[in-house]
Amino acid sequence: MQFAVVAHRTSETNDALAGAAASLGLPASVLSPRDALRTLEPGDIALGRLDVREELDGVERGTEELEQLAVMEVVLLNPPSALVAAHDKLLTARVLRRAGVPHPRTWLIAEGAPSPAPELPVVLKPRFGSWGRDVVLCPTADKLDRELARFAQRPWFPAYGVLAQELVPPLGWDLRVVVSGGRVVGAARRYAAPGEWRTNVALGGRIEPAAPSQLARSLALEAAAAIRGDLVGVDLLPLGGGFVVSEVNGAVDFRRTYALGPGNVFRNAVHELVRVAQLRRAAA
Ligand SMILES: Nc1ncnc2c1ncn2[C@@H]1O[C@H](COP(=O)(O)OP(=O)(O)O)[C@@H](O)[C@H]1O
Ligand SMILES: [Mg+2]
Repeated sequence: MQFAVVAHRTSETNDALAGAAASLGLPASVLSPRDALRTLEPGDIALGRLDVREELDGVERGTEELEQLAVMEVVLLNPPSALVAAHDKLLTARVLRRAGVPHPRTWLIAEGAPSPAPELPVVLKPRFGSWGRDVVLCPTADKLDRELARFAQRPWFPAYGVLAQELVPPLGWDLRVVVSGGRVVGAARRYAAPGEWRTNVALGGRIEPAAPSQLARSLALEAAAAIRGDLVGVDLLPLGGGFVVSEVNGAVDFRRTYALGPGNVFRNAVHELVRVAQLRRAAA
């Protein structure tokens, strides 16, 4: 039984996941969607790790190959439906709302869509976003108008519009909880860089080990289950002594710091993935 991380590139997280699978005794590699289709056999495990495109105009190509793998009876974890529910923040908002998971109110602003009246201050962000790019805070109507005019020039705007989201008053940190196979396997606090309100590491944020509370754990598990993600990172924004789920990362990046104890977070994540894959194979 092979374990393949299906992605377009190697990365610290992708390599660490493949390395962890190898350390558990499974032949493991990071494979492009095409190579996965050529190489994998029925009963093997494929973990979908397609990301948001650099241009922020959707999910990377390869969803068809993932579907094809499932048809071939490869056990497909993080299937395209889960990746899209995580990567498309409008879909995430709808899925979380339907599941009763707390999430900031989110409006779509698009050509031809009824124009919403988001309350200020508001956050604007692309539907398919990552690395904190183009996530802007609009405290005034003037700033909102200026930013909307700027977003309207983006090549992806006609197809997707832009999201306006209720601002959760920033405290300079959030909590990322890694959920694998329906269990919490890792967590870390992410601190925004000085003078920055966004907590992304890509924007200079730093991470510190964290022990998630019961509340944080159960919110993360509910969000991961709602998205149907097998390996996801759930970001929780602190609010009034509790949390709201800010987003679910379908191709989550994490590091050794996320370990919840002395064990290796990547090995624990892969261990849980192999467990659910075996259950699914047995049920098929
Ligand atoms: N509604 C919000 N309220 C408060 N902070 C937010 C909100 N939306 C985004 N942020 C901040 O901006 C960062 C980036 O936003 P996010 O939606 O996670 O986009 P990306 O996918 O680019 O990381 C978050 O980590 C958080 O710090
Ligand atoms: Mg984020």
